[in-house]
Amino acid sequence: MRTTSRFSSCISCLLFPLEAMAEVKASLFCGVVAAVLSSAVFAFVEDLDDTFKDTRVNDIWLVDFYAPWCGYCKKLEPVWHDVGVELKTSGSPVRVGKMDATAYSGMASEFGVRGYPTIKLLKGDLAYNYKGPRTKDDIVEFANRVAGPAVRALPSKQMFEHMLKRHDVLFVYVGGESPLKEKYNDVASELIVYTYFFSAPEEVFPESVTLPELPAVVVFKDGGYFTYDEYEDASLSSWVNKERFQGYLQIDGFTLYELGETGKLVAIAVIDEKDPKEESGRLKTLIQRVAKEYRELFNRDFQFGHMDGNDYINSLIMGEVTVPSVIILNTSNEQYFLPSEPIETMEQLVQFINGVLNGSAQAYGGDGFIQRIKRVAFDARSTIMSVFRSSPLLGCFLFGLPLGVISLMCYGICTAESDDGSDDIDAHKREGLTDEEEEEEEECQRTPELEGPDEDEEDEAGEKDPDEKKTD
Ligand SMILES: *[C@@H]1O[C@H](CO)[C@@H](O)[C@H](O)[C@H]1NC(C)=O
Ligand SMILES: *[C@@H]1O[C@H](CO)[C@@H](O)[C@H](O)[C@H]1NC(C)=O
Repeated sequence: MRTTSRFSSCISCLLFPLEAMAEVKASLFCGVVAAVLSSAVFAFVEDLDDTFKDTRVNDIWLVDFYAPWCGYCKKLEPVWHDVGVELKTSGSPVRVGKMDATAYSGMASEFGVRGYPTIKLLKGDLAYNYKGPRTKDDIVEFANRVAGPAVRALPSKQMFEHMLKRHDVLFVYVGGESPLKEKYNDVASELIVYTYFFSAPEEVFPESVTLPELPAVVVFKDGGYFTYDEYEDASLSSWVNKERFQGYLQIDGFTLYELGETGKLVAIAVIDEKDPKEESGRLKTLIQRVAKEYRELFNRDFQFGHMDGNDYINSLIMGEVTVPSVIILNTSNEQYFLPSEPIETMEQLVQFINGVLNGSAQAYGGDGFIQRIKRVAFDARSTIMSVFRSSPLLGCFLFGLPLGVISLMCYGICTAESDDGSDDIDAHKREGLTDEEEEEEEECQRTPELEGPDEDEEDEAGEKDPDEKKTD
């Protein structure tokens, strides 16, 4: 497709008047060079069209569904090329392709593409969405993990030790054929997007590991191991989902988004890593200890961690948390909890967590109507602030000028009542902003006109394709 359009543009070059010939020659030369270069590119990343549906069946494909107008897709392009090179040169069976989802929108819909860029690994009937950071290493790791077997064997002590060193969280099935094993295989083939799954004979574990009965599913993490209990832990898939993180994490915006899928409340020490007074260090240690020592009590409902700096949390709660402090977030309904007084001791922290658990703690925020309005206003304000911060002159010009005109008009119209005009100004601010705001999002919406908070949510809720799960 690319080549034809390049040819046609060259043909149109020839229609230019003679005096432009020199320029045309230059551009033809560039075109040839580009064509040579891009044919090298195509060897690593294949340009897909609507024949893909029929030709893909025997291969495992990693596909970037992009839109030509989407800035995030452009940013991904060089990374994608590197991914193609890496997978090809390492001898991976995964073929790397990209598809202009606007040109083949029917295909894109069939694959459940809702935003751009969408990265999917297609393996037989299964389609796995990639949601992680868009770096070469992360994407290549994902491709290798998902393309391989859902459950990998650990036949020896050495292999087990080696994997234990490499992975912070290690799921292992122990035992022979059983219904639990079938369940484990199913869960693995679905959740392999997040983590590795292994199976091993009991002999490979160190002597300190004693399993009460076989078969068993065990997770090794946080310097210990924990066994899945069919009666207490509900379904294996929800248990894996809750156990796939270390008990204590350094949390950033992306981890928080990932943690949302576990349905756990997230207890965060908001700290300053460079705090000279070491208050931050104390609070971090406190929450680390609670995570470890109260695991039995809280692990089912809470994820623990710390965050460096309060910028992210502030924008999340549309307020200001002090540093250091503790905040508990309910990512399912966007509510949050703050301790009524600064936390100094372990007892206070445990009491605070208990209060959240038994419903006696005061909840703030939420995803109600008022909160949504507040969010819109807050986002508009922070966009204006960021424009001003990055280029004050442009900011003045963009917002100052219309504001000045509007206020002059308001002043003229309602010389007496001046307060009523403020809402209109807000609306204007918002209107003038849509472009910058698109930039703030991580992903471009499928239809550019349809952007808005609701569309966003759909994106997050409709995470997985129906065809992604083979079984439940
Ligand atoms: C968190 O939000 C979910 C969904 O609204 C709700 O069911 C749950 O009770 C909340 N948890 C707490 C501790 O408020
Ligand atoms: C909830 O937990 C807090 C803190 O442990 C405790 O003080 C309070 O009495 C509890 N409330 C209920 C209703 O259990």
